[in-house]
Amino acid sequence: MSDQVKIDVKRGRIAEASAEVVVVNLYSGVKTPDGPTAALDAATGGAITRALATGDFKGGAGEMLTLYPETGPQRVLVAGLGAADGFDLATARKVGGGLARRLRALKVKSAASILHGGDAGLDTAELTRALTEGLVLGLYHYDNWFRDGRAKPLQLATFTWVEAKAPRVKAMTRGAELGRHLAEGMNLTRDLVNGPPNDVTPTHLANTAKALGRKHGFKVKIMDRAQCEKMGMGAFMAVARAAVEPPKFIVMEHRPEKAKGTVCLVGKGLTFDTGGISLKPAAEMDLMKYDMGGSGAVLGAMDFVGSRNIPLIFIAIIGSTENMPGGAAYKPGDILTSMAGVTIEVKNTDAEGRLVLADCLTYAERFEPDAVIDLATLTGACVIALGTATAAMGNDEWLLEQVKGAADTSGERLWPLPLWPEYREQVKSSVADLKNSAGREAGSITAGAFLGAFTNNYRWVHLDVAGAAWNTKPTGHMEAGAAAGGVRTLAQFLMDWKRPRGKGPQPGPSTTLRSLPEDAPAGGSKSGK
Ligand code: BES
Ligand code: MN
Ligand code: ZN
Repeated sequence: MSDQVKIDVKRGRIAEASAEVVVVNLYSGVKTPDGPTAALDAATGGAITRALATGDFKGGAGEMLTLYPETGPQRVLVAGLGAADGFDLATARKVGGGLARRLRALKVKSAASILHGGDAGLDTAELTRALTEGLVLGLYHYDNWFRDGRAKPLQLATFTWVEAKAPRVKAMTRGAELGRHLAEGMNLTRDLVNGPPNDVTPTHLANTAKALGRKHGFKVKIMDRAQCEKMGMGAFMAVARAAVEPPKFIVMEHRPEKAKGTVCLVGKGLTFDTGGISLKPAAEMDLMKYDMGGSGAVLGAMDFVGSRNIPLIFIAIIGSTENMPGGAAYKPGDILTSMAGVTIEVKNTDAEGRLVLADCLTYAERFEPDAVIDLATLTGACVIALGTATAAMGNDEWLLEQVKGAADTSGERLWPLPLWPEYREQVKSSVADLKNSAGREAGSITAGAFLGAFTNNYRWVHLDVAGAAWNTKPTGHMEAGAAAGGVRTLAQFLMDWKRPRGKGPQPGPSTTLRSLPEDAPAGGSKSGK
């Protein structure tokens, strides 16, 4: 659970810090430490030098050495930074994570640390942001469901970055706050995605949206089955047909006084995906609780934007249901009519995410957005192609570049896939406008091409986070499980927002645009564009 730690930045000297643990650091390959690390080496009678000489501690990125000096602080932690010439923001995140793990194990209430890396040529605010992100993400541990309460409650209450120079203190304060807001948003996502599907239901996601609305002053609208049916959401409602758990269509609006544009964030919120009548195999079906990872990321990003002063109108749209088999379930062979009026032949009830998103993307039109980004655990093929990286597709070259840039800056792995016109052919049906499954070839792309039929009236990027939403193994700064893939990219994209040039989508060499079928306008162009 995401317990919150207070993060401070204080001007002063680390030797004077009164925390239970004092943290210094060391690059690998250094034989004799200098600066505060040297002072603590002296205070421990050369314990750091001796640990280095034995080879027990090498100063690798995220490696930690705990010492108990005779005088001064009770405990000293030496945090390894790895090689000096390879120290970057990703390494800093890893160091923050390693630090978090050790602090958690030590069960201390307070820690103070110097911040290093100035000599690595990194921006102080960015470095503090990355270290703080790693720290807050690393402190996260999901243990909400043990009978005796949490297995290992988080003891750490305050963490202080200590710095002697005043201008650096200012930059560090900015960076630490940004890192904390971002990591707290991600931890909210992780709680939702790690949660069991009998608890994290569509109603639970709706309640989370309402809670965020109260916290940040968002307008929140929740539509139930009857309302969605009335609105003509034939694709979303088909997926929800056999679910006893009530489906929810969630809309959140954040409208600051001065806004430089409107951005819609759309999330797939399948709180459990059995595959429906096209039932998935039993092995690892439990993992399909994370099929709401896209909507979890949208909620985490909305928590972030609520905490920051970003001059943009944000609209979050989440279609949430379970995909269940049953007597009332939709079937392969069914032909659905989406809210946009597009008819869809159901080939496979396990290709449900694109059906839910189709109606969400049509709903987004009414906001006349400058950009729409959808996040979805859409295809297993994405995991096969890219592992834990996010796949990006879209109808506008500029927007794709912005999103790719945001991923690079924020330290997420994201790679574009093409949406060439020939892929559009693959999702055409012989009996309806579209079919929801086009077989195994280019599985992630044909899913994207399907969505593209509903996004003719705005700039749009689709992020397949099927691999990025979940880590089967721990990373440098995160335990295994929910990984909040996409949140950092979204946050960065929104912070760095620039108004796009020109009106409407500008397709480039790897994008395609136009309604389906080619000869009749589909995609629900209500505005008649
Ligand atoms: N939620 C799954 C995709 C998925 C698979 C996410 C594994 C994360 C890990 C999605 O609804 C799905 O079942 N997609 C099918 C589409 C196919 C039937 C065209 C898939 O990927 O197999
Ligand atoms: Mn599915
Ligand atoms: Zn799914």
